[in-house]
Amino acid sequence: MLEEPRKILVTSALPYASGSLHMGHLVEYLQTDIWVRFQKLRGHLCTYVCASDAHGTPIMLKALELGISPEELTSEISAEFVRDFAAFGVDFDNYHTTHSPENEALTVEIFEALRKRGDIYTRTIEQAFDEREGMFLPDRYVRGTCPYCKTEDQYGDACENCHKTYTPTDLIDPISVVSGTTPVKRKSEHYFFKLSEYGDRLRAWMQEATLDKNVVAKLEEWFEAGLQDWDISREAPYFGFRIPGTEDKYFYVWLDAPVGYPASFMHLCERRDDLDFDEYWRPGHDTEVYHFIGKDIMYFHTLFWPAVLAGSGFRTPTSVFAHGFLTVNGKKMSKSRGTFIKARTYLDNLNPSYLRYYYAAKLGPTIEDIDLNLDDFTARVNSDLVGKLVNIASRCAGFIGKRFDGKLAEALPEPALFAEIAEASETIAEHFERREYSKAMRIIMSLADTANRYIDDKKPWVMIKNEDQLDEVQAVCTQGLNMFRSLMIYLAPVIPAVAEDARAFLNEDSWSWPCAAIPLLGVTINKFTPLLTRVEAKQVENMIEQSKESLAEHETAPEDDYISIDDFAKVDLRVARIDKAEAVEGADKLLALTLNLGDSTRQVFAGIKGAYQSETLVGRHVIVVANLAPRKMRFGVSEGMVLAAGPGGKDIFLLAPDDGAEPGMRVK
Ligand code: MSP
Ligand code: ZN
Repeated sequence: MLEEPRKILVTSALPYASGSLHMGHLVEYLQTDIWVRFQKLRGHLCTYVCASDAHGTPIMLKALELGISPEELTSEISAEFVRDFAAFGVDFDNYHTTHSPENEALTVEIFEALRKRGDIYTRTIEQAFDEREGMFLPDRYVRGTCPYCKTEDQYGDACENCHKTYTPTDLIDPISVVSGTTPVKRKSEHYFFKLSEYGDRLRAWMQEATLDKNVVAKLEEWFEAGLQDWDISREAPYFGFRIPGTEDKYFYVWLDAPVGYPASFMHLCERRDDLDFDEYWRPGHDTEVYHFIGKDIMYFHTLFWPAVLAGSGFRTPTSVFAHGFLTVNGKKMSKSRGTFIKARTYLDNLNPSYLRYYYAAKLGPTIEDIDLNLDDFTARVNSDLVGKLVNIASRCAGFIGKRFDGKLAEALPEPALFAEIAEASETIAEHFERREYSKAMRIIMSLADTANRYIDDKKPWVMIKNEDQLDEVQAVCTQGLNMFRSLMIYLAPVIPAVAEDARAFLNEDSWSWPCAAIPLLGVTINKFTPLLTRVEAKQVENMIEQSKESLAEHETAPEDDYISIDDFAKVDLRVARIDKAEAVEGADKLLALTLNLGDSTRQVFAGIKGAYQSETLVGRHVIVVANLAPRKMRFGVSEGMVLAAGPGGKDIFLLAPDDGAEPGMRVK
């Protein structure tokens, strides 16, 4: 190893122990796991810890609904997480829970240290209170009408229509989501952390931490807006840690959640002699701490967390690495489309190595969203992993096994070609280090192309028929297998299970990064068994089908890009007869139609002039949206809409009812 071994501690965000892991979560855990495995392969002392985020109102209410304790709920779900993570090869050194003694001790220590410095104060605030349930309501547990735009049924913190933010007590006609009753306003004393005093320290940290430029831009925005003090307490009933010296106040989940990082590490230190808590968490040591997170939780990790650490005698993170959100087939994951895919449903149908590779092939170091396009997934895995990579081995292994008793040649016939792969080592390593996985994958696959071209040129399957060319077959296959081996070492962080099998086939005990530059010669290897099979379209289809099924089980709310049948039923469609059709002066596309709806007449402007001559329209029956709110246009008021289909211009086709329809008839 050229560099001194580094001491690195890595975390992924702590998943809420309230639901199953899905494809979106996996972006993060796979991205982190790849980085950690890479560091370990490079010879560094890298430690990866995580935990379940167990506290907070949603978990408390969910347990209540299921009639179990929050401890039971979170430990059941954590067990499921552990099983799913292991199946995907996410290899934590420790997986803990935030509902742990280590976490409580550290959280209290941090709180007391901040209080001693004068960074904690109390203030009485007014909040929505559910009298039936006897609890204060978090913002998202109150719904009502937006005070600004008057849109109904909005959350207590922000309006989905006008995007204004407010507090639940501002809502018109507020309703408690928990009991359905009208909440009252009630005062209570809350604990605040003086984040506002940490601007300079946070700016300095931002410079040192070499954050992605999009993260810096976000931070600048927040500094610009001014840092607000942070409410870190919640009233009972609450599932969390009680604030010392109070009867009924608890630490807000987001205070103790990140403390779960050092707490999980502390829990690990108890059984690892080579790890020392203070060396990683107190200032002044030569260790590195990195948090991998999603872009939605940047505020907590780049403002609150470093400030809380800095103020309480802990070190701040070396850096925070934020990633974007996952879309599936270009859209937000959706239960009705079957693209809200749980980790478990994926595992029931597909090999985890495929997803690890696919995400690696797409991931970069920025907060840009990444798309899991399922057709591309199938094509990419089949062409890269099966068609390029594994193919190198399967074309060479048989000859070595059957004709040379598994023995590799003593020398490479083309050392320069091997050197090409060996020399890519540092470039590939740098890409991994900078989380430029997609760039690393591109280089590796183009080297796989080189290896395949070499085998195509040499054609061992032709030479094998000729007794005097046997040595050359052994040499060519040794060359091919060595190129395969080096690429497999580079890919070991990404597809560790496949790399393990390849290593066992090559009869080696262990691999480290530098092994890729040293060829394997003159040794006997094992029998080759296929390392990966192709993805079949059917497997992907089944996964989607099964993801749709879980919708019926859980009866989730309709997706935002669908309207419900009730929405549709609101549209009043009627048959109308066109009594008059006239050009509109100054509008080249519009016709002014006078429509007869049986009991009334309406004036409607329709953009169909390019497709219809006004004379031919009179007397025709059309379908009209009769209950569309009248719209004032430049030429007058339009009192409905005539239905037509087509791309526009000459190609617009009025929808017409069959003969026998009479003006005023309702369309069912
Ligand atoms: N419990 C908090 C984190 C506390 S860290 C001290 C939380 N949990 S979570 O379960 O909602 O999310 C865990 C991680 O998964 C977060 O980093 C989040 O950004 C990430 N993802 C959740 N859904 C995601 C996508 N659809 N796409 C990509 N990442 C996503 O937040
Ligand atoms: Zn609004």
